[in-house]
Amino acid sequence: MDKIYFTINGDRFSLTGSEVSPTTSLNDYLRYHLGLHGTKAMCHEGGCGACVVSVSLTHPGTKERRVFAVNSCLVHILSCHKWDITTIEGVGNRKDGYHKLQTRLAAFNGTQCGYCTPGMVMNMYSLQNSTDKLSMEQVERAFGGNMCRCTGYRPIMDAFKSFAEDRDPRLEQRVQDLEDLHEIKCRRNCERKCSEGDDWCIIEETNDSLMSLGGVNRWYKAYTVEDVFKVLSKEGTDSYVLAAGNTGKGVYPNTPDPRVYIDISSIETLRDTFTDGNLVLGAGMTLTDVMTTFLARAKANEEYSYLKLFWDHLELVAHVPVRNIGTIGGNLVLKNKHHDFPSDVFLLLETVQGCVTTIDNNKKEVVTKANDFIKMDLSNKLVKNVKLPPLSSKNLIRTYKIMPRAQNAHAIVNAGFLFHVDNKNLIESSNIVFGNISPDFIHAIETEKVIRGKNLFNDDTLSKALEKLQQELVPVDSPPEPSPYCRKSIALGLFYKAVLSLSPSVNPRYKSGGEVLSRPLATGTQNYDTDKSLWPLNQPVSKLEGLAQCSGEAKYCGDRHETPREVHVAFVLSTICLGDIVSFDPSEALKTPGVVAFYTAKDIPGRNSFTPNEVPLQTEDEEILPLKKVLYYGQPIALIAATNHKLAIRAAGLVKVKYNESKQKPVLSIQDALKSPDKDKRIRQENDIAATDKGTDVAHIIKGSYYVPDQYHFTMETQTCTVINTRRGLVVRSATQWMDLVQAAVAKSLNLPLNSVTVEVNRIGGAYGAKAGRSSLVACACALVAHKLNRDATIVLPLTHNMAAIGKRQPCYAEYEIAINAEGVIQHLNLSCYSDNGCSFNETSASDLPNALSNLYDTARWNIKTYSVLTDKASNTWARAPTTTEGTAVSEHLMERIAYTMKKDSLDIKLLHISSTNSTIKDMIDKFKMDTNYNERRAKIAKFNSKNAWMKKSLRVSLMAYPIFYYGNFPVTISVYHVDGTVLISHGGIEMGQGINTKVAQVCAYSLKVPLDIVKVKGADSFVSPNTMASSGSITSESVAFATIRACEELLKRLEPVREELNEPTWEELVTAAFEKGINLQVSAMKGDEESSLQPYPVYGIGSAEIVLDVLTGSHQLMRVDIVEDTGQSLSPALDVGQIEGAFIMGLGLWTSEKLVFSPSGQLLTDRTWTYKPPGVNDIPADFRITFKKNSFNNNGVLRSKTTGEPALVLAVVVTYALHEAICEARKEYGHDDTDWVQVDTPYCVENIIKGIAPSINYYKIK
Ligand SMILES: Cc1cc2nc3c(=O)[nH]c(=O)nc-3n(C[C@H](O)[C@H](O)[C@H](O)COP(=O)(O)OP(=O)(O)OC[C@H]3O[C@@H](n4cnc5c(N)ncnc54)[C@H](O)[C@@H]3O)c2cc1C
Ligand code: FES
Ligand code: FES
Repeated sequence: MDKIYFTINGDRFSLTGSEVSPTTSLNDYLRYHLGLHGTKAMCHEGGCGACVVSVSLTHPGTKERRVFAVNSCLVHILSCHKWDITTIEGVGNRKDGYHKLQTRLAAFNGTQCGYCTPGMVMNMYSLQNSTDKLSMEQVERAFGGNMCRCTGYRPIMDAFKSFAEDRDPRLEQRVQDLEDLHEIKCRRNCERKCSEGDDWCIIEETNDSLMSLGGVNRWYKAYTVEDVFKVLSKEGTDSYVLAAGNTGKGVYPNTPDPRVYIDISSIETLRDTFTDGNLVLGAGMTLTDVMTTFLARAKANEEYSYLKLFWDHLELVAHVPVRNIGTIGGNLVLKNKHHDFPSDVFLLLETVQGCVTTIDNNKKEVVTKANDFIKMDLSNKLVKNVKLPPLSSKNLIRTYKIMPRAQNAHAIVNAGFLFHVDNKNLIESSNIVFGNISPDFIHAIETEKVIRGKNLFNDDTLSKALEKLQQELVPVDSPPEPSPYCRKSIALGLFYKAVLSLSPSVNPRYKSGGEVLSRPLATGTQNYDTDKSLWPLNQPVSKLEGLAQCSGEAKYCGDRHETPREVHVAFVLSTICLGDIVSFDPSEALKTPGVVAFYTAKDIPGRNSFTPNEVPLQTEDEEILPLKKVLYYGQPIALIAATNHKLAIRAAGLVKVKYNESKQKPVLSIQDALKSPDKDKRIRQENDIAATDKGTDVAHIIKGSYYVPDQYHFTMETQTCTVINTRRGLVVRSATQWMDLVQAAVAKSLNLPLNSVTVEVNRIGGAYGAKAGRSSLVACACALVAHKLNRDATIVLPLTHNMAAIGKRQPCYAEYEIAINAEGVIQHLNLSCYSDNGCSFNETSASDLPNALSNLYDTARWNIKTYSVLTDKASNTWARAPTTTEGTAVSEHLMERIAYTMKKDSLDIKLLHISSTNSTIKDMIDKFKMDTNYNERRAKIAKFNSKNAWMKKSLRVSLMAYPIFYYGNFPVTISVYHVDGTVLISHGGIEMGQGINTKVAQVCAYSLKVPLDIVKVKGADSFVSPNTMASSGSITSESVAFATIRACEELLKRLEPVREELNEPTWEELVTAAFEKGINLQVSAMKGDEESSLQPYPVYGIGSAEIVLDVLTGSHQLMRVDIVEDTGQSLSPALDVGQIEGAFIMGLGLWTSEKLVFSPSGQLLTDRTWTYKPPGVNDIPADFRITFKKNSFNNNGVLRSKTTGEPALVLAVVVTYALHEAICEARKEYGHDDTDWVQVDTPYCVENIIKGIAPSINYYKIK
């Protein structure tokens, strides 16, 4: 029997294939078979980086040993033959010592929730081991595939860039300040000795011949081309896949799973590179290898100098771990199978008229032009190689890729241009190639004809070419891809860009149009004071759990060894939006081996609600599973239990459901709801606040509307829960922000007393509100299965289910009429705001909106009405800075609109309206303007804009007074151990990345006057901390800190008589003596719902953003962001910096790249990492400066501090104001004479920016 073998962290494993399934990825194997939970997973499609591990392998072509990162979710375990795999556990750990990467990342506070962290470390580890010389640029470019929702990336990049040879003095200094105590040790159990100078294990060689593995589904490992055809002739070609890098399934999932896999990654001939007049690249070459070859060729040979441009383009394809194993052959075959795939490899090949060689089972080789290749039937054929021609300097080449974010995104439009010119600079021939226009469109043939024989670099030819191109480009409408209008405009802009960049002479005003946005290496500063006399309070410490997170030792809800009879649960999701369920037919699913059970609403023994009204803030019941009525597309309607995770999900898809679908058109937006026939049922007024003053000096009336979009939370840990049956009842390990809700919902749904349900939460992998009111749905489903089967059960929502089934940030639509005088001062304002609640009124923002709407302005003249609106979508929920995000954005928008009418700087208008209660911010603004050189920079930008037609810059400022108020109970229990005096805390707050445990430990150490390192904080549970409010609203850390102070005071009171008896005892002596006297060394205290010493307060903040907009493509760069925030006297400044940066970047995503698109039938179309794009590492500001307001003390909060978790998110809207100004500047170049406000839809994604600019080819000129 054939076997493959590989090592993981030095331990050797071998498999025949029968131990695993056709879908078992390396990630599944690590997590579920070996219990190595340090490696995480989220998207399972190569889009998030949580799963990255490091591989060392002998390259099949060069025979060199290489180290590289891979996404373990994309790698099939049977592909790992002869791989030495290192996971986070093998890099460093508590027992063997931590690796410098881990200690430094922790010291730089590069972790918050920590769920992305192992993937980050492994990506860096691989990068570091793959090269002798590491530059900061290399580091910054290598993390496009690693998403982090918490940190905003800056500290992660600082930590990793500190390993670069060219690290800047700022990092140099920090590194010097750090003590790296722990060094990497050689891995344990390495079967062979580590070779000298190389700590990688070398596995002995074996004969490489065709291997056959697996059970019913077969896995073959081929070493020759003949092997492949041998297998195909034996197995047939009805259901097979060639696994080269196997990354294609990250784009187009293999559904159904093929019967036969043939691993072709070790076929040497498919890796061959040589020249035969052309440059021949083996189809099995990885994109990384191809890039290396391109660079070398471009340097060595003038005729291949164009390959440097191709290298630049390939840098924008996928990201490093995908490029490390994904091949050019695989990419081209994806294009062959899916003509709509905007393949960059195909685009490049077609631009230079490259060819593809295929080979069939008769060894017949056929060379075809790329264009013809994609029409070929590839069944029973192998792509052998790709040929690129040498090109003289008479061939002028440009290629472009426009994306929704800087990296790791497929093209909105990609384009390749080759103009072959003669000696007189006339076009002899050309290739004008575009991707993502329509499945059949490749070349702009007619345009190519128009320019033939002409000088392209004059206005006449250019205008004729553009006219033809405009006719010829007919993009198809294929949501969620941006609209045809957008894609066509970009394509035209790219053509013009190419011409400008190649033209020998260009009018200086137009020159910038020929440039591509580039950014310098990112940098940042963090300015705050710290008072050493208060330490450990106010000390910039590292997060307590940092090292555990950096080493994968930190355990999350899903990180546990399965018990023998444990089942995995998956939701069956509705495939209609509105209607009644008539019947279920689960027979197909239940027939599948390993599927254990199927449950519907009828199986729920208790109350069918995951929002029981005994818990605060729950206003109506939402069904766990609908008894009959479906309320939205993607609603969980039934449950499947199976013996493994992927099986459960697959089986859920096999359940057939009969519906009686409603004829009613789904209402998917507030605007639709306002027009719908049943609008009375859908719209509920929450507030009607009348103005107390009215001005009469009306010079202008401004009317308009504004929209704050929705946003997916994008927690790196999706909704997760495990339920364990114990003798004393159910232990629910839920990834929740709200233990009380989960406990009550589970108990009530199962008809159990609450003391039979214990909820435990160690930490959660990101929440941002998603796991407050919504996690109880997932917990109830999991508990139902565990209860019914009397077996342990786990549910981990796959990303697509999480995105479809769970509500998002509530969008808000505002309509307004503003009357202003000649100075721009509001005389009266009528404002109506509508919050899109989705299918239930629970968790509505609208009721609290007036408070947030005022921001820091005088609202005496504002008439405010707010409404909650029901739409046919998942019930929307809180998302970081809920209500305040909408409120601040709306009020800031009103000021922007007034400023536009008045033709004034919006900051001046804002200053006019600041209320007397918030006047303290005026000094902050003055200082901010001075410190950031606001006026000088604005003047410089105006000059730049006047000189450059096609790049526009802008600098704008946003203000906030973020209202904080306290609510809810938060208990704390502190135990002190008499033997050594160490202190352990358990509290009702949930550690989800905000650093609550660290802050609480600091407060405790400060209060007890003990060293911080003797204080530890354990996970939360509902026994120690019953009846606790959700960790939300930015107040949890402070609330728990408050309770901690109370508990410490009580403890000190108990210890005081003992202290008085002793002569200045040490803490240990004091505790020991107290113990001996029988004093209770455990104290509990609670911050109650109302505490007179805790009063509401505002968090003031100012944010400015400087952007540059590439007018021709709608893309932009965020050049600099300055934030000054009033943090009071920060409890923990380094953590607070992280909160501010992370919140701002999440806001940046909301306002720029994250767009949720629903089909008319209510289906969410952007439900994957392929289509939904939070900011990545190269989207953050190139220069990010955070400053805490100096000498600030908050008398209303806890220990003079102010909270930081959410407020900075609301400042991110400033980016849209800067973009708006740049768009207006751009519109002038197109002859738009705007007197009225330019309406730009939100978010300011590429599509909406292009729509806002409304470009026209009539203005594209060279001279
Ligand atoms: C997160 C992510 C982002 C991406 N972004 C981009 C992007 O921006 N631009 C872009 O162009 N691409 C992008 N891709 C696609 C990526 O480039 C391809 O997945 C990769 O190149 C495919 O190569 P592979 O070796 O992994 O193919 P596999 O997945 O192994 O195979 C893909 C298909 O090709 C067939 N096949 C493979 N090799 C051969 C061969 N030699 N002969 C015949 N058939 C073969 C297989 O049977 C299968 O059907 C992205 C992919 C991911 C996962
Ligand atoms: S889980 Fe592998 S990249 Fe997301
Ligand atoms: S720390 Fe990166 S996702 Fe939470």
